[in-house]
Amino acid sequence: MYRTHTCGALRIEHAGQEVTLAGWVQYNRDFGAMTFIDLRDRFGITQLVFNKDIDETLFLRAKELGREYVIQVSGKVAERYNKNLEIPTGAIEIIVSTLNILNTSEVPPFTIEDNTDGGEELRMKYRYLDLRRKPLKNNIILRHKVLQATRNYLDQQGFLEIETPFLIKSTPEGARDFVVPSRMHPNEFYALPQSPQLFKQILMIGGYDRYFQVVKCFRDEDLRADRQPEFTQIDCEMSFNHQEDVIEVFTGMARHLFREVLQVELGDIPLMTYDHAMRKYGSDKPDLRFGMEIQYLNELVKGTEFPPFRDALAQEGTVAALLAKGCSAYTRKQLDQLTDFVKEPHRGLSGLIWVKWNEDQSITSSVGKFFDESSIKSWLANTGATMGDLLLIGAGPINKIQKSLGDLRLELGTQLGLRQKNNYAALWVIDFPMFEWNEEGKFWSFMHHPFTSPRAEDLDKMETHQGEVKAYAYDFVINGSEIGGGSIRIHDKEIQAKVFHALGMTADEAKDKFGFLLEALQYGAPPHGGIAFGCDRLCAILAGVESIRDVMAFPKNNAGRDLMLDAPAVLSDGQKKELGLK
Ligand code: AMO
Repeated sequence: MYRTHTCGALRIEHAGQEVTLAGWVQYNRDFGAMTFIDLRDRFGITQLVFNKDIDETLFLRAKELGREYVIQVSGKVAERYNKNLEIPTGAIEIIVSTLNILNTSEVPPFTIEDNTDGGEELRMKYRYLDLRRKPLKNNIILRHKVLQATRNYLDQQGFLEIETPFLIKSTPEGARDFVVPSRMHPNEFYALPQSPQLFKQILMIGGYDRYFQVVKCFRDEDLRADRQPEFTQIDCEMSFNHQEDVIEVFTGMARHLFREVLQVELGDIPLMTYDHAMRKYGSDKPDLRFGMEIQYLNELVKGTEFPPFRDALAQEGTVAALLAKGCSAYTRKQLDQLTDFVKEPHRGLSGLIWVKWNEDQSITSSVGKFFDESSIKSWLANTGATMGDLLLIGAGPINKIQKSLGDLRLELGTQLGLRQKNNYAALWVIDFPMFEWNEEGKFWSFMHHPFTSPRAEDLDKMETHQGEVKAYAYDFVINGSEIGGGSIRIHDKEIQAKVFHALGMTADEAKDKFGFLLEALQYGAPPHGGIAFGCDRLCAILAGVESIRDVMAFPKNNAGRDLMLDAPAVLSDGQKKELGLK
């Protein structure tokens, strides 16, 4: 038997017992005639004591133990003189009588502590060492709890866990495919699934009624803190349901997960239309932990000669504002920084106008020369400003204003401490547009995926007014992060063919790509719909971390590399030849 207890198990009531523990050496502290070692495993840390006066040979061996050595010790549990109230085992220590070195260790390239000195690249290369650190270990344990609670909930709701293949043909979700060459069929390739979308629809046509899967998805796209090339979805589909039914089941799942994993009751989970979210928050994934909505001043500034406002209104643009409560003391430097922020090329505003209602009653503004005080006062009154507030105004095309003020709102929210990570605001965004205009290629593309059902009342607009067609598509958002997305699917083959057509696909192209789906739709497809949650993003929110890498055991870096394996890697000539590759 390697051990009688784990390093997290012993308490004061075990005092006097003979025990055996095994684990890693976290610290080795020398106090003259005593050596103290912190022994660590997944379950915790226990203090070991080696006393020179009791056994000098043992004491000398203990002094030589390096960090991360793997050892086994036996000894007696004793009450500690200096108790450590920070850890559950802090009331006891082990007076060691035998020591067995199970393995030695090189000196690790970074410290295995909560706040390590290792940079992210180094920690990814030595991921097995990073995985020993408590913050990462706790995230991996949390992820396990999330998946256990998910499985329990979905099982209780009648969902069956069914696996679907990885070596498939392309399933479009808006990214590029990763492809795998076929040895048996030279010049032919499998695609790895961007999601199991088509399989789950086929399962509904197969009569399985409710399906789920915890599944890897693969997308070749630019990476960010919340995007990995392979990530995990909690993928679900159900039959004979409307949008409201899907929303009800998965609101229940979100509440269940927060309750089980964090013991937190989520508050109200409102439904908000896409149009409202874009108008008020400049984002289709609004962070509702705070207000500061975008307010429109078009009516108030109509007829003005001030060029930025006049030009914006003349070009069907808009003049809009954010009210930063209590920020009238912002300095010139801070205001310049906010202006630079909205002027960054991907936001593209030409400037930011500010109005301060100062604590001494006075009103100052960057456009004081252009407007009389009563105009400026009317802006303050209409936006609900009070003394001490700051109004930030932008003018320009509507999409730029929404993007810039939406981002600025988040920036101010962060600066003002309104986005605390242990405060949760969830919502459903609904009524997404069916299509989006691709400006570069000049064509209509799908917003969710091409199997999403347009709203019944918009069907006749599909060929003529694509921009006005809304879909039965919905996203689940928490704290400004898109945690899940889904839709009611098309179950009528005529409508599916029309959507392919609206997306510029000829009947032959549609048949070539999705012939099996069009065929399956002829054999009694039930009404169905579903959703996929991004498991990594959900875990990141629950763990309170910024990057999904911190909730994945083996993530890739920002360039899509696995630094531990050093993948991707070149193939040998022999392997390439076998695969028919040059
Ligand atoms: P969608 O593409 O919206 O929908 O994906 C669902 C959820 O998966 C997460 N996600 C990602 N997480 C990490 N890295 C990525 N690269 C990444 N891409 C997406 C997000 C997102 O909300 N088949 C549809 C679902 C459906 O219609 O039922 C789909 O895949 O949290």
